[in-house]
Amino acid sequence: MAILPIRIAGDPVLREKAKKIRKVDDPSLQQLIDDMVATMHNAPGVGLAAPQVGVSLRVVVIETPDDGLMALINPEVVKSSGERRLMEGCLSVPGYQAEITRSKQVTVKALDRDGKEVRIKATETLLAQALEHEIDHINGILYIDHLDSADELIPIRPSIDDADPQEAEVSLA
Ligand code: NI
Repeated sequence: MAILPIRIAGDPVLREKAKKIRKVDDPSLQQLIDDMVATMHNAPGVGLAAPQVGVSLRVVVIETPDDGLMALINPEVVKSSGERRLMEGCLSVPGYQAEITRSKQVTVKALDRDGKEVRIKATETLLAQALEHEIDHINGILYIDHLDSADELIPIRPSIDDADPQEAEVSLA
């Protein structure tokens, strides 16, 4: 497993519509997933999409305390409803967070890393937020695109050492 460099906003790969995976049973895809999990843990973050490590493929990994670790291939939102305001951050937009609007309930269809079809329904959880955030990534969208103005970005204190726990709760994905 390797920790991969994370691409930062401004990198064109983050703006591409990522390509669909045709073959799940591929050692290089399985390797990519393992590397993405290692990179997400190292960051640390709640989620990571393949374009964030420079790979324009529809693969995301997410890990939350309540729902555990999942790798999703070709994920798509099949249903979403409601609205809620949430603080959000992104590993590709370091140093900032902002409040944005996400859905209350999200249903996602995907393949797991074994190629089995999965359907995930998340309601008002960190998972629901992360699913929308990561699926945005594979469509070339960053959370900052949901803001009316860059003035809404709030700087996060740079030093991890003196970060207060409240701030640490903002999900970086
Ligand atoms: Ni992100």
